[in-house]
Amino acid sequence: MIKFTHPIIISDQLLEESKIFKNEQALSTEYLPEFLPHRETQIELIAKNISPASKGRSVQNMFIIGSPGIGKTASVRFVFRQFEEFSERVKTIYINTWNYNTSVAILSKIVLDIGMFVQRRGMSKDEIMEKLIEALKKSNKGLIICLDEVDQLIKKDEGAMYDLLRLNQYVDNPIGLVMISNYRDIFVNVEPRIKSSLNIEELEFKPYTIQEMKNILTERVKNAFRLGSLEDGVILLCANHAINKGGDVRIGLECLRKAARICEEENSDKIKTDYVKAVLKETGPVKLKIMQEQLQGVEKNLVDLLSKEEEITSTDLHNKYVKNFGDISQFGLTKHVKHLEDIGIIKVKESRTETRGRKWFISLVKRKVFK
Ligand SMILES: Nc1ncnc2c1ncn2[C@@H]1O[C@H](COP(=O)(O)OP(=O)(O)OP(=O)(O)O)[C@@H](O)[C@H]1O
Ligand SMILES: [Mg+2]
Repeated sequence: MIKFTHPIIISDQLLEESKIFKNEQALSTEYLPEFLPHRETQIELIAKNISPASKGRSVQNMFIIGSPGIGKTASVRFVFRQFEEFSERVKTIYINTWNYNTSVAILSKIVLDIGMFVQRRGMSKDEIMEKLIEALKKSNKGLIICLDEVDQLIKKDEGAMYDLLRLNQYVDNPIGLVMISNYRDIFVNVEPRIKSSLNIEELEFKPYTIQEMKNILTERVKNAFRLGSLEDGVILLCANHAINKGGDVRIGLECLRKAARICEEENSDKIKTDYVKAVLKETGPVKLKIMQEQLQGVEKNLVDLLSKEEEITSTDLHNKYVKNFGDISQFGLTKHVKHLEDIGIIKVKESRTETRGRKWFISLVKRKVFK
């Protein structure tokens, strides 16, 4: 007979159904609600620009800009979901260019998403293009690609956009791009040939007002919590905090999630304004946190090291890196430091002293400032 030797660590309380949550997932940032209040106009415009594809006609490329957490990605995903559900002649593909930042990576992802096999290694860009062209010729679908955080792609491989547009020369299927960024001026230095072939329409998302933020959180709350689980004033406090911290809805959602956690710990059946007040002090810059979480390899290690320091010289950073993570040349490390500086995760300050020459001081950015 099997004997369980471990002590029982799951208490009755943990096994009970939540008193407050109906669907906790509805508070997560990945959750795409059934409707997005206050983005109706933008959603309609994106849909209008894409819809010619469902009749085989050409599509207006778009460039969406606006500050973090104001529904740019959500609106595009919302429209894409509608097209996937209701239009047989449109294939939509969402790509975050944080993760796919070269032409080959993007083309491979598209080929895979439309259901064709592509070897992970060893295929040249032209071979992948050929596969894609072959696949498009076989189907009568238009292809709409969202390049989210497109500034990353422009930094790494701006030609990728050109390669996508080049597809138009080989196939009759409409190809459309929806690009998203926090930054307005990213196309300024893009090669004129690429810029003119993009022919983009710009759509600016304006930040939400406090009332709009309140309405948005109210809708999310309806999906997430059982009726009557929130004390009056909870949503207003969270909305107000989100607006004060730059208008990112994610901050409001995080605030609600953390207040709910306290509520469960207290075994209370109502989220009180006091719980929200307790979490307000600790909610940090969410976007920066998300960016940091997406880092991998050397850059992730660098951020881990820097999070333990106020400020550190480049030489000390190199020594610590080697000690903690193994050998890397100063030159190799500098390349990663430069990239982290470019994307606004770290600050590099140069200081000159007469006796000791030049020194670089490196620190983590605490709050990201968006232009
Ligand atoms: N109008 C809205 N209704 C419901 N949820 C919203 C709305 N606007 C934003 N959100 C939610 O806020 C979160 C952040 O939105 P989203 O990811 O679209 O931001 P973003 O504008 O793309 O920001 P970033 O520039 O940082 O990528 C998501 O969980 C999204 O569902
Ligand atoms: Mg986004």
